[in-house]
Amino acid sequence: MIAFVSILLASFLAPEVFAVIGGDLNCTSYNGTAFVYTPAAVACSNAISDASCAVLYAAPNTLYPAAGNDAQRAHACYTTATATPAAIVLDMKQAALANCAKTCGFCCQTDAYSCSNAVYPRLNCATVTLSQCNSVAWRTIIAQDCPASCGFCLSGGCVDAVTNCGNDLSICTTVGMQDFVNTYCQRTCGRCPSSTTSASAGTATTTVTSTCSSYIADSSTNCANWSRNGFCTNTFYTLAQRRARCATTCRIC
Ligand SMILES: *[C@@H]1O[C@H](CO)[C@@H](O)[C@H](O)[C@H]1NC(C)=O
Ligand SMILES: *[C@@H]1O[C@H](CO)[C@@H](O)[C@H](O)[C@H]1NC(C)=O
Ligand SMILES: *[C@@H]1O[C@H](CO)[C@@H](O)[C@H](O)[C@H]1NC(C)=O
Repeated sequence: MIAFVSILLASFLAPEVFAVIGGDLNCTSYNGTAFVYTPAAVACSNAISDASCAVLYAAPNTLYPAAGNDAQRAHACYTTATATPAAIVLDMKQAALANCAKTCGFCCQTDAYSCSNAVYPRLNCATVTLSQCNSVAWRTIIAQDCPASCGFCLSGGCVDAVTNCGNDLSICTTVGMQDFVNTYCQRTCGRCPSSTTSASAGTATTTVTSTCSSYIADSSTNCANWSRNGFCTNTFYTLAQRRARCATTCRIC
């Protein structure tokens, strides 16, 4: 009887013991006792269906990567080996990144997250949370200053403030909706500022779509630095204020 109980206990306890990420520690941080996934590890969507990813990259211990947990990744996410420790095989990892980045807990290494944040961000990029990435109040500022923290690297510094503008594209041309779309659907409706600063290289790369060919002179000598810092698209300042200081650098007509 005692033997039977101990077998029961052993089989009950055994699966819990060795859940460590191991192998590839990208997109994780150390919480004091274990390596756990960062929020950015699972902040993207899989490129193919979640169900297909669960077949291709089945969790070794039933638990899948989630922010703060230490679920072991499927070996196929990063290696051709079938047991840890295993060397990273880049082909395997590229395939996982392209198809099932979320299931593999690799979102932080996808193109959308692979850029630098601004040199002088207005907020601490390291502490940006997932709810800030989705917040109307924060998104446009984060897109300019901390694009890598929210996966905004491919959006050139300009995102919609709300996430569902694309549900009804007719709002972009509806007369009574112009104030709304200018504020909340800038990207979807093509209302990004004429020069949108891309923070990725730490230099001001400008995409000019303005309609004039000359600008009034900058009145400040700091415009180059301010531009790098997101000033040209910073809606804390009115367009008139930005034009008054840095019309040429910001290319504001
Ligand atoms: C992160 O991934 C790269 C390849 O994508 C690999 O070379 C590197 O060793 C990994 N780093 C860690 C800490 O696992
Ligand atoms: C670290 O993460 C592990 C695995 O999720 C968890 O069991 C442990 O309690 C965490 N430790 C701290 C200090 O949060
Ligand atoms: C711009 O920033 C650089 C780097 O911080 C600094 O050395 C330089 O003096 C700044 N230029 C102006 C005009 O403030």
